[in-house]
Amino acid sequence: MANPSVYLETFGCQMNELDSELVTGSLRALGYRFTQDALAADVVLYNTCSVRELAEQKVWSRLGEMAQRKARQPGLVVGVLGCMAEREGAALMKRMPVVDVMVGPGELDKLPGLLDNAVRTRAALADEIEPADAQEQRPDTSGLTSARQAALAGNTSRRSATLAAAADTLELLDLSRAVSPETLGPSRSAYVRITRGCNKFCTYCVVPFTRGAEVHRPPQHIVDECRKLADAGVIEVTLLGQTVNHYRFEHGASVTLGGVVQPQKGRTYKRGESQTDAYAGLNVTTFADLLRMIHEEVPAIRRLRFVTSYPRDFGDDVLTVIRESPRICRYLHVPAQSGSDRVLGLMNRGYTVGEYLEFLDRARAILHQPEIGRPLTLAGDIIVGFPGETEADFEATKRLLERARYKNCFIFKYSPRPGTVAIDRFVDDIPDEVKRRRNNELLALQNVVSDSVGREFVGQTLEVFVQGISRRAAKAKVRAERVSIGAVGLTIGGKSVGSQDDEGCGDQGACSSAAHAQLATGDEPAATPDEPVQMTARTDGDLIVLFDTTRPADDLMGTVQRIRIDASRTLALHGTLV
Ligand code: 5AD
Ligand code: SF4
Repeated sequence: MANPSVYLETFGCQMNELDSELVTGSLRALGYRFTQDALAADVVLYNTCSVRELAEQKVWSRLGEMAQRKARQPGLVVGVLGCMAEREGAALMKRMPVVDVMVGPGELDKLPGLLDNAVRTRAALADEIEPADAQEQRPDTSGLTSARQAALAGNTSRRSATLAAAADTLELLDLSRAVSPETLGPSRSAYVRITRGCNKFCTYCVVPFTRGAEVHRPPQHIVDECRKLADAGVIEVTLLGQTVNHYRFEHGASVTLGGVVQPQKGRTYKRGESQTDAYAGLNVTTFADLLRMIHEEVPAIRRLRFVTSYPRDFGDDVLTVIRESPRICRYLHVPAQSGSDRVLGLMNRGYTVGEYLEFLDRARAILHQPEIGRPLTLAGDIIVGFPGETEADFEATKRLLERARYKNCFIFKYSPRPGTVAIDRFVDDIPDEVKRRRNNELLALQNVVSDSVGREFVGQTLEVFVQGISRRAAKAKVRAERVSIGAVGLTIGGKSVGSQDDEGCGDQGACSSAAHAQLATGDEPAATPDEPVQMTARTDGDLIVLFDTTRPADDLMGTVQRIRIDASRTLALHGTLV
């Protein structure tokens, strides 16, 4: 098959978005073409998320649709990438014969080889099979196992707790990142991975099982990648990791294989031992060092952000670097998960509410400087309906929300995940209607808090990063086009601007977020000179700002501007360019 076309759909978090970008780059380099039209594609790939059941259900239903299509189009290749592939393993292939290729998040560098094989085998087999609609009976293509392959890490990623024992080929995927206007799009914003995996084992969470042990990338690789992106025009970089502030790279212990410095497994700390103790006296690049390096060595990056932070082990060194660095955003996403010490204990979070709030106070004392136009903003994650969560526990979470004063908070209903400690140890005893009620109550409370946080910005002049025309303006434009030139899909610049559902927004992806306006980004149409268009921008504290302008949208997209904040309305600030 010459230059097969690929449709790739991404579910879940920013880490998955980055994985999808890297996969797209590597497949493009091999001649695959990408299409937005799943029905026209020769290859359909789903990059999946397992954090909550709902995200997985969506993929099951997509696979069901693909099974029907494959009956008519036997040459179609279907791949499941990411956490669901890793979590389900062979069971997924058994349940869904439509799946040809499965690749876990730690093995994505193997996708091109597996896909090539699957495409060839499928094409050869398709020649021998008549489509179902031309036959009396549907062909049972499930027996065509020769086209079906998987690359999964299993539990190998946890084998060595010290150094990577073998070449970390996944690092090559990050290193070979294709940076071009095509892959970057017009937004001039990019993600850079600094750590993979997680060692925390919160009892509800599948990530340590699907993404494996915490692994830190060599600092020079990260800085080089930031430089490469900056050279290509990127001005905003978001560093990614499940627990970014755990980043540590021990130089004395680094291993080079095939000329490539290998990523390094994070240490597991002894009970009561802090990270600082564990690495004392060693030649280590800490997270604070890494931030400083990127800030100093790549000044073309005008906004450096990072997600997600773990509330414990957050040293003053990191806060001090942020304070001293004008280009590091004053925004922390530090999930609390619950406001009850009892629930935090059951979740194995490793801190108390008091310790969490102490950290927020410390962060505010060092970083909150509205008087110089540099306020600190905070975002959180909360899980409601964790097993055994009482009304008193829930009330404690409400108090935490009032006290934390997040600018927004991602609120999730507890979803029991196979393989986790929580599903084995605790009964999922909170009825769904109670989870829903608590979820709604917290969303309502967070809206009040977000409103009040937003009002503090009115009258201030802030730097913002312009992202695109607003969803409202984009929709209006689509409506106008529908009227004038007929039907146009509700897809602008490659991103759907349809309704916000339970998945796919926020720092960690799947969420129902209060105070989180949805944006339309991408190559939106420019405004005509005399017709103002509403654009969206983000402050360095990640607050959404809407503003009207008659300037061409293309000129403003991906630039940093100064805006006077005139009003704070539901979900967004409104301002004027100055
Ligand atoms: N159920 C509900 N929410 C979860 N999260 C992680 N695992 C679960 C689960 N089993 C939430 C946490 C985390 C975010 C990424 O997803 O709040 O911070
Ligand atoms: Fe999951 Fe985050 Fe806990 Fe790691 S720290 S186990 S990714 S919730």
